Amino acid sequence: MTTTTTSFSVKRIAKSRISEVDFNNLEFGKHISDHMLMADYVNNKWQEPVIVPFEDIPMSPAMLSLHYGQSVFEGMKAFKNKDGNICIFRPQKHSERLNKSLARMCMPEIPEELFIQSLHAIVEADQAWIPTAEGASLYLRPVVFAFEPRLGVKIADHFKFFILTSPAGNYFSKPTRLKVEETFVRAAEGGTGYAKCAGNYGGAFYPTQLARQEGFDQVLWTDAKEHKYIDEAGVMNIMFVIDGKLITPKLTSALLDGVTRDSIIKLAPSLGMTVEQRKVSVAEIEQAFKDGTITEAFGAGTAAVVSPIATINIHGLDYNLPAANEQSFQHRVKAKLNSIRLGHEADPFGWNYIINVH
Ligand code: COI
Repeated sequence: MTTTTTSFSVKRIAKSRISEVDFNNLEFGKHISDHMLMADYVNNKWQEPVIVPFEDIPMSPAMLSLHYGQSVFEGMKAFKNKDGNICIFRPQKHSERLNKSLARMCMPEIPEELFIQSLHAIVEADQAWIPTAEGASLYLRPVVFAFEPRLGVKIADHFKFFILTSPAGNYFSKPTRLKVEETFVRAAEGGTGYAKCAGNYGGAFYPTQLARQEGFDQVLWTDAKEHKYIDEAGVMNIMFVIDGKLITPKLTSALLDGVTRDSIIKLAPSLGMTVEQRKVSVAEIEQAFKDGTITEAFGAGTAAVVSPIATINIHGLDYNLPAANEQSFQHRVKAKLNSIRLGHEADPFGWNYIINVH
């Protein structure tokens, strides 16, 4: 999809900070680009967004999101494609997910058109910040939070919507070590697990910190009821190749509907791969390691893209995976995804939102 320009008011920064960035060593989330987009929800309506220099904002210590957690976000990416134009990846799917998160948290939905125009405007304003190195991108962070100052427990009636952007390289620098979590819980069915709300991440810090102290990078969450079935890895969904088939936990209300997960599932058949979305038990993965039928495990997420997993710790035992190579499914699907986003091959599902810059 190709688009026209937007007409939001833009107040440009006096002096760009771009020279502070080492584009050859991008640490995820370290640098925020020159500008931000912001809009208020007041009088039951989203107001026209504006683009201003990225800076601190005044807020009340009684701001409701600080106290009761009405805060949701998205993680998205923009690229410079092979023609030098800008590609924002799957904005409609992100808009859909954002609105599901907002609805779950009793927050006002953002009309798809307003959301996409907002992305367009901020990415266009900070297009110089889009990295061009292989695997790098401009990470987009839309966030919506309750802004009304009040101590009473209530649904706010003033919200803010921001989009920040940040040049990003790889999220993980090497294949990860995951620990199957059997004590703590990320989300229970019926809870907020499917919503991209801030609390899901805050609640994961403590178990993740404990796992890090034991030498792991992330925990692999299991279901809240029995700790028997695998859910996701918190910053990414999880996928396995077992007996030559791609297997991933099916979505429930406790799992995030990952856009990269969905993209891989849709691309898999064109790479000759059968996909199974179903319940995946910890016991099945343990047995697959013992039988030697599991050949790959990887994380899928916007920030993580396709991240190889080196080790999965199950009931205290480390099970190691072979290093991925050029023939591995994870390697091939990542290459295909990148090739579609950069315009080297056709975009069969219409995922790319293209902004012509010439
Ligand atoms: C993403 O992949 O965009 C995420 O939101 C995960 C994490 C960086 C918070």
